[in-house]
Amino acid sequence: MIIIDGKQTAFDIKKEIKEEVDKIVSKGNRAPHLAAILVGHDGGSETYVAHKIKDCAEVGFKSTMIRYEDDVTEEELLAKVAELNADDELDGFIVQLPLPKHISEQKVIEAIDPKKDVDGFHPVNVGRMVIGLPAFVSATPDGIVELIRRYKIETSGKNCVIVGRSNIVGRPLSILMSQKSINATVTVAHSRTKDLEKVCAEADILIAALGSPEFIKGNMVKEGAVVIDVGTTRVESTETKSGFKLKGDVKYDEVAPKCSFITPVPGGVGPMTRVSLLKNTLLAAKKTIFK
Ligand code: GUN
Repeated sequence: MIIIDGKQTAFDIKKEIKEEVDKIVSKGNRAPHLAAILVGHDGGSETYVAHKIKDCAEVGFKSTMIRYEDDVTEEELLAKVAELNADDELDGFIVQLPLPKHISEQKVIEAIDPKKDVDGFHPVNVGRMVIGLPAFVSATPDGIVELIRRYKIETSGKNCVIVGRSNIVGRPLSILMSQKSINATVTVAHSRTKDLEKVCAEADILIAALGSPEFIKGNMVKEGAVVIDVGTTRVESTETKSGFKLKGDVKYDEVAPKCSFITPVPGGVGPMTRVSLLKNTLLAAKKTIFK
């Protein structure tokens, strides 16, 4: 059994990105620039955005954090999005989700210029990805595909079961896993799937992205399967400084001994997600996706 080291892989990719940034800057160009809009004080969102800003510094990107209180209006937020769209000194930006209930997330996402949508959430990017055009792919699916490639995991003709059909993970990942460079046969399982245990147990590659801690048990995994755990539920813990720890969707102790490859939580998919945002920002700066 091989434990997929997302932390090390992310570190390697960050090094590659930093080398590219150094080259760009040494030619007299400005560094790639990412902005993040954060609304309110949700603990998870605060942590995620802080990580993104730190990652930018590590690879030599410029970053800008824009904060609003929970009572910001949709109009104010949309005006800021328009301003960022028009800013020639900014390559890409994200609006951290979730947003307060009085703001339409979809409206905000659709207001972002697809050329600066480094989260890959805009329907133009999703559509381009679906038909195999160059696109900003959302961070978690992109990070998973990158891990699969770097670990040279065989995918062609394999039975890939994805549990979860969210717009930012399960659904886009199902498209990527069936595309021509990967060639897996994909099943998307969800809360209405019949005989879920049986469906999972037939997977050569099982990807758990439902957000339910330790949902995937040992009896749901085939001997020799590849298991990718996307779960990152924050649970209270006395073991950590922050008072929280991350729990995956896979019951690791039961499942790991059966696997050929498995991603741990933390240290598996999570760090790759962060690095994919950097990859997209570099692509935005190089203007290689929308010509
Ligand atoms: N909230 C949880 N994950 C994400 C993400 O990848 N991007 C944004 N913008 N918000 C999130």
